[in-house]
Amino acid sequence: MARLSARRIALAALRAWRKENRFADSIISGSLAKAEMAESDRAFAFELFYGVLRNLTLLDFWAGCLRASTVAADLRDVLRLGLYQLFLLNTAPHAAVHETVELVPRRQRPIVNGMLRAAIRRQSELLARADAEPLFVRTSHPQFLVDRWQQHFGAQPTENLCEWNNRAAPIYGRINQLSIDREEFLRLYPGSRPVTRSPEFVEFDALPVSAVRQGHCYIQDPSTAIACQLLTPRKGEKILDACAAPGGKTGYIAQLMENRGTIVACDRDPERLQILKENMTRLSVEIVRIFNHDWTRGDVPSEIASMAPFHRILLDAPCSNTGVMRRRVDVRWRLQSSDFLRMQQRQLEIIRALVPLLKPNGTLVYSTCSLEPEENEHVARQALTSASILGLEKQRSSLPFRDNLDGAFVTRFIRSP
Ligand SMILES: C[S@@+](CC[C@H](N)C(=O)[O-])C[C@H]1O[C@@H](n2cnc3c(N)ncnc32)[C@H](O)[C@@H]1O
Repeated sequence: MARLSARRIALAALRAWRKENRFADSIISGSLAKAEMAESDRAFAFELFYGVLRNLTLLDFWAGCLRASTVAADLRDVLRLGLYQLFLLNTAPHAAVHETVELVPRRQRPIVNGMLRAAIRRQSELLARADAEPLFVRTSHPQFLVDRWQQHFGAQPTENLCEWNNRAAPIYGRINQLSIDREEFLRLYPGSRPVTRSPEFVEFDALPVSAVRQGHCYIQDPSTAIACQLLTPRKGEKILDACAAPGGKTGYIAQLMENRGTIVACDRDPERLQILKENMTRLSVEIVRIFNHDWTRGDVPSEIASMAPFHRILLDAPCSNTGVMRRRVDVRWRLQSSDFLRMQQRQLEIIRALVPLLKPNGTLVYSTCSLEPEENEHVARQALTSASILGLEKQRSSLPFRDNLDGAFVTRFIRSP
């Protein structure tokens, strides 16, 4: 019965996602916040919801093989759930069919029952047919994304990337050394495993609720550290973190500064800034001043302008998020091919607003979690053309299929004297 309610929650969340144009994370977290359920059922609801979203094209391909005529969207969601359990989650067939059929009104049960039973009978044929489909169907990505990645990265890396995007992401945390040192952390949380290449980070099997609540760690991927490391903040300096919320990088910068100096953290989104504020309190960050500002609108507010010039500025820019698609499962279904150039315009506009706030010889770090050249190398190149006082110093990136981490791109500019 409890499992049934996890299925009902997943189904309602899938329907809400299709109809309401809201982020997947906020839909499923909102539904689960209201539900009284065992932890295992909660995890099952997450698995069903994200699993279906990751595999939409493939599940619809199988549904199309089973029934030539289209079914109403509400019923299609139920079939997606049933087929996901049968073919990708390896749920016991009897349970998958019985409990999925229970989700629909009586008059629709024969269709769902018939299609899922046919899927069980034809399983090997359907799996083989899917294997013969092109990559964008097999791995459920929009075709335009797969095409552009194949052109840019080549066939095998693209295949690896699509498969990477469909695997559940590991849980990484950054040890917050403003609150606890590394050895003490590892002793206190023996379930955490050090990440060899990134000694500030550990990996967990499950969300470390107590460590997070006590500010002993912050959940983030090791790739997010690259931007802070290239920023090379020093204690006592004045740093502008221009698009800061919810503060993953702000917290790490404060640690690198040993909580001495000033970080001005801005963002245009007041709700995300509130989360940043709570995060900074929990992480014992004492040097942050928080401002709500949109860098594409109007003049720089006098409270920020009066603190300029800054030794260093981090622009962790809004972007298409194509480097973090294993974590942001619905990103692929929201993106359009025109988005990359649209984001590029916004990224350049923000850079233009920030350059005058930088000290002579100061450092500007531009970072994204996108894999797209339009938002990465092309922005860096155009920034150099439009702001001749900037010089390019260093560029680093992380690519999922090469580095086994989320995607990130970072460029360090230096302002001329
Ligand atoms: C990639 S996220 C920042 C993540 C953050 N640096 C961290 O490490 O937690 C980009 C942020 O830019 C903010 N943003 C987008 N456009 C903006 C603008 N025009 N002005 C200020 N902030 C903006 C978004 O609200 C979002 O919080």
